[in-house]
Amino acid sequence: MRNNISHRLLYVVLFISLLLLVCFTRTTAFYLPPAPTTPGVGIDNERHALLDFKASIDHDPRGLLSTWSTREEATSDCCEWFGVTCNNQTGHIISLDFGSGDLQGKISPSLLNLSHLSHLDLGFNHFTGTIPKFIGSLTQLRYLNLGFNHFTGTIPNFIGSLTQLRYLRLDQNDFTGTIPPELGNLTNLQELSLRFLFSCTVENLDWLSRMSKLEELQMDDVKFMGKADNWVNVISSLQKLSILSLRSCGLSQVMHPYSHVNSSSSSSIVSLDLENNNLNSSLYNWLFPLTSNKLEDLSLDDNKLDRIPKYFGNLCSLTYFYFSSNTMPISFPNFLKNLSGCTLFNLSFLYLYNGQFRGSLSNDIQNFSSLNYLDISNNRLNGTISEKVWQLPELETLFISSNSLQGGISKNIRNSKILNIDVSNNSLQEVDSEVYMSKVAMIDMSSNNIYGTIPNISSTVIWLDLSKNRLHGGLSFLCGHVVNPDLYYLDLSNNSLTGKIPDCLWHFKELQLLDLGYNKLFGKIHSSVNLLKNLKELYLNNNNFSGQLPLSLSSCTKLILIDLGANKFSGSVPFWIGEKLSLLYALSLTSNNFSGTIPSQLCQLANLQLLDLSKNNLHGTIPPCLGNLTAMVQEGYVGNAGLCGLPLSKYCPGDKELQLPPIVGENNGDDDKENMWFYIGGAIGFAIGFWTVCIVLLVYNPGRHAFFHFMNTLESWIYVKVMVFISKLQHNTRR
Ligand SMILES: *[C@@H]1O[C@H](CO)[C@@H](O)[C@H](O)[C@H]1NC(C)=O
Ligand SMILES: *[C@@H]1O[C@H](CO)[C@@H](O)[C@H](O)[C@H]1NC(C)=O
Ligand SMILES: *[C@@H]1O[C@H](CO)[C@@H](O)[C@H](O)[C@H]1NC(C)=O
Ligand SMILES: *[C@@H]1O[C@H](CO)[C@@H](O)[C@H](O)[C@H]1NC(C)=O
Ligand SMILES: *[C@@H]1O[C@H](CO)[C@@H](O)[C@H](O)[C@H]1NC(C)=O
Ligand SMILES: *[C@@H]1O[C@H](CO)[C@@H](O)[C@H](O)[C@H]1NC(C)=O
Ligand SMILES: *[C@@H]1O[C@H](CO)[C@@H](O)[C@H](O)[C@H]1NC(C)=O
Ligand SMILES: *[C@@H]1O[C@H](CO)[C@@H](O)[C@H](O)[C@H]1NC(C)=O
Ligand SMILES: *[C@@H]1O[C@H](CO)[C@@H](O)[C@H](O)[C@H]1NC(C)=O
Ligand SMILES: *[C@@H]1O[C@H](CO)[C@@H](O)[C@H](O)[C@H]1NC(C)=O
Ligand SMILES: *[C@@H]1O[C@H](CO)[C@@H](O)[C@H](O)[C@H]1NC(C)=O
Ligand SMILES: *[C@@H]1O[C@H](CO)[C@@H](O)[C@H](O)[C@H]1NC(C)=O
Repeated sequence: MRNNISHRLLYVVLFISLLLLVCFTRTTAFYLPPAPTTPGVGIDNERHALLDFKASIDHDPRGLLSTWSTREEATSDCCEWFGVTCNNQTGHIISLDFGSGDLQGKISPSLLNLSHLSHLDLGFNHFTGTIPKFIGSLTQLRYLNLGFNHFTGTIPNFIGSLTQLRYLRLDQNDFTGTIPPELGNLTNLQELSLRFLFSCTVENLDWLSRMSKLEELQMDDVKFMGKADNWVNVISSLQKLSILSLRSCGLSQVMHPYSHVNSSSSSSIVSLDLENNNLNSSLYNWLFPLTSNKLEDLSLDDNKLDRIPKYFGNLCSLTYFYFSSNTMPISFPNFLKNLSGCTLFNLSFLYLYNGQFRGSLSNDIQNFSSLNYLDISNNRLNGTISEKVWQLPELETLFISSNSLQGGISKNIRNSKILNIDVSNNSLQEVDSEVYMSKVAMIDMSSNNIYGTIPNISSTVIWLDLSKNRLHGGLSFLCGHVVNPDLYYLDLSNNSLTGKIPDCLWHFKELQLLDLGYNKLFGKIHSSVNLLKNLKELYLNNNNFSGQLPLSLSSCTKLILIDLGANKFSGSVPFWIGEKLSLLYALSLTSNNFSGTIPSQLCQLANLQLLDLSKNNLHGTIPPCLGNLTAMVQEGYVGNAGLCGLPLSKYCPGDKELQLPPIVGENNGDDDKENMWFYIGGAIGFAIGFWTVCIVLLVYNPGRHAFFHFMNTLESWIYVKVMVFISKLQHNTRR
């Protein structure tokens, strides 16, 4: 699980940078208020109209309208008010921009008095009710954005009277019913954006053919019904259309037959997105008219496709190709062969995650000379990885985890530009001893069969996961090969590593996760551990570590998880854990030689969900506050002959008869899952908050699907490990 969803942080970082750039460059034009132009007194009537508008707004949490002064003096020029733009010659108001204002209230019909208004942006606010009728009278509008509000009712047909409109955006509202054919009267429209209208349908698309100037059409989540099955016909008649997005439109019923053509189509479409439409391969019989030499970005994710046609190889400009989550078996070598026309030269992004690709990662890959990003993880590839993969001249990202691939990583990778490599959860046996990746930032080779000592892989890596292999030898490579002080993720668990922790480990000040669990390491935890100021997760479990916990560990105040179980640690359970490590979520000291009593300071750990102190030499009363931790079970204390009190069924001397909690039964598998999903749910909630901001700002960004895939992982990477840990531990102790 972790392999699939948690190891992409670096890419996340890259994508966030890209996203910010994209959000910024793509949105400034629409969402940021234009800077006021020349001063000049706004025309009085218009100024009053603005004040009326302000008066009908109930809630302005960002204070957008706070600069709008009610003072009558000419000193308050309404052309300088926030969000207002005037024509610098005539002084008339021409643009109102309150995008992302979180405004609530009514939209005042006083806007009708702004007779020169051509740009009205009310997107990303909280307006409710049906779209007010007077909007249909703002006939001079060229730009109208009512997207991302809570408007209800059907999309009114009077929108069709705004015949000057170039841009119309009604995305993400609570509209119901059919998209009105009157929109076809908007013959000047260049962009029509009706995304995320989950309860809307379109019954017939003939009206669309009148919008001959349309360049961008997005109708994601609008359901295509009945006579809309001629949409390919209609859309291929739109000569200027360059961006078409019909995600989740229920196109599966739409199979208007087209005779198979093989000459070049004249479509202008550059970006075509048909994700999640339940389409099967008969799609190719009618897709052709929408594809041409101009097509750069094609998404067929989440369908039921089991092949691609040969004509895809002739899409010379194709740069981004998304084909993930198609559920039908498909041969990867043949897939590549069908793509091998002029497509070979420009294709740089191939996203085939989570499908049913079979066959091997064969030599056919070699001619894709521009390939920069290849994700074919979670498929069914088998056989030996072709040497040619390591020689792809432009390859920076290679994600091939969770297949059944064999072989190894050859030294040819020395010459590659590789930045991110995830080959986890395969059957790789070896890593050439001369492998060295000079630029790589992320390496995940976990869950393979790699045998030997840890090779000189890279000195630039910041994410290194070699867990679940058969590596032996010591950790001294940390003092030589891996030297990047920015290393923040180091997982070497489940190998056969021996020796002590070398001092150089403590110099990785950015380290957030350190997992050395399930090895044969020994020695004490050095007091320099406090240099790891950013450490969030520390796993040293199932080794032979010994000694007391150094006081300096109390300086690692970002820790959320500590697992020191199954070692030979001794001394008392430190009281400072409770006082200093206030973010701690899970603490396991099980199966050691800790002695003394349980410090009541542990009660100060407000976030603690799991505490496992079992199988030590503890005695005394369990502090009552620890009796009912959410994920806490009696088993967290058992195996300490001297412990008493709740939740153990052994009373302490002097206690009255206690109400014992029900004994946790054997059939608690479901409970574990529930807990786990509860926590993960929290993390996802956080992600959704982020999404609603970003998903909508992305007007057109070829990296977006992949971004969302990785986005999914960002918020969870650290939590998932915690959750898996907790659920595993609960599961084990409850058995
Ligand atoms: C008025 O605005 C136009 C474009 O909006 C600009 O080209 C022109 O320079 C401006 N004139 C003045 C006097 O600012
Ligand atoms: C438009 O302006 C006129 C004159 O100031 C005013 O009488 C009228 O009520 C205004 N209309 C609206 C809809 O605010
Ligand atoms: C607008 O469209 C409707 C239906 O498509 C049509 O009946 C009507 O005549 C159109 N109005 C104008 C002004 O073109
Ligand atoms: C398709 O191509 C073949 C040969 O490449 C040609 O014989 C045939 O006429 C073409 N069909 C159409 C519809 O262009
Ligand atoms: C695709 O689905 C349609 C109807 O859903 C069916 O008629 C057709 O046979 C299917 N085609 C293929 C190639 O499976
Ligand atoms: C490749 O193209 C051929 C001919 O169009 C087709 O029969 C085959 O199914 C395709 N294979 C794949 C894997 O797309
Ligand atoms: C690659 O795409 C560009 C346009 O993005 C196009 O000009 C060029 O011809 C394509 N390269 C090849 C080899 O077709
Ligand atoms: C791919 O490359 C190999 C060797 O580099 C060459 O023999 C083969 O013809 C190429 N195939 C295509 C389709 O370009
Ligand atoms: C790959 O898997 C297929 C069955 O799915 C099997 O027939 C084939 O022998 C396997 N190839 C290798 C190299 O293991
Ligand atoms: C590992 O890959 C197999 C398929 O090869 C998949 O079924 C399994 O879920 C993967 N395991 C993890 C932890 O990703
Ligand atoms: C690791 O390999 C690189 C590149 O060959 C080399 O520069 C470096 O000295 C090596 N480091 C060690 C510790 O062998
Ligand atoms: C145990 O939890 C309940 C509610 O979940 C709370 O009312 C009670 O105070 C807790 N007991 C202790 C000892 O913390």
